[in-house]
Amino acid sequence: MAEVIVVRDPAEAGAFVAAHIAEQVRSRPEFTLGVATGSTPLPVYEALRAEADRGTDFTRMSAFALDEYVGLPAGHPESYRAVVDREVTEPLGLDPARVHVPDGSAEGIRTAGERYEAALQEHGGVDLQLLGIGRTGHLGFNEPGSSFGSLTRVKTLTERTRIDNARFFASLDDVPVHCVTQGLGTILRARHLVLLAFGESKAEALAAAVEGPVSASMPGSAIQLHPRVTVVVDEGAASQL
Ligand code: GLP
Repeated sequence: MAEVIVVRDPAEAGAFVAAHIAEQVRSRPEFTLGVATGSTPLPVYEALRAEADRGTDFTRMSAFALDEYVGLPAGHPESYRAVVDREVTEPLGLDPARVHVPDGSAEGIRTAGERYEAALQEHGGVDLQLLGIGRTGHLGFNEPGSSFGSLTRVKTLTERTRIDNARFFASLDDVPVHCVTQGLGTILRARHLVLLAFGESKAEALAAAVEGPVSASMPGSAIQLHPRVTVVVDEGAASQL
């Protein structure tokens, strides 16, 4: 079973995970971090900024994002490219050429998956992949039914996920319907998975992912197939374990 660490609150989780990443980066500056979006990883990014302020040099680190919406206008503040640049690339001083986000532009989507997989493979993969989990159990945007062998590709968002993410947009109608997401097979290739979850609204999905049956109807359960997984949760998210 995954190593499960229960912390007091998201800030403590952020500090714990960021301290581990910073230690790795100090011994190997060309570390590759798999970045997730949504609210869950934000405390990690905040704590990484504190590690940078205390002197860890992140400027040679690379980053690969999990997913991107399809069809948002370039520069839209809620595109995952914009979020990753705002939360990670700029504050940590990463070289923008080393920060990769799937191409969700309408012209790019036909080949976006293949190009992203090729870039990831050529780079040598991800050392540590940060993950949140959706209430549907999704990892990245791999909704229930996604195959465990899937690679980066275009997917359709569930209504549940669009409603959950509407808080980032002016209205539900503004939430894209499609996305480009790393597949579960892509995610499982990362060398270390760190899954974070906070609050009781995640408890059911978290318990199903960590200790439920391994099934494509619960994408999060794919983590049980990985040899190195750390789950960092608060008491609310851990309440059904
Ligand atoms: C989002 C992202 C996922 C994220 C999940 C949970 O839509 N695509 O990578 O883990 O849904 O989001 P949140 O952390 O905001 O609860």
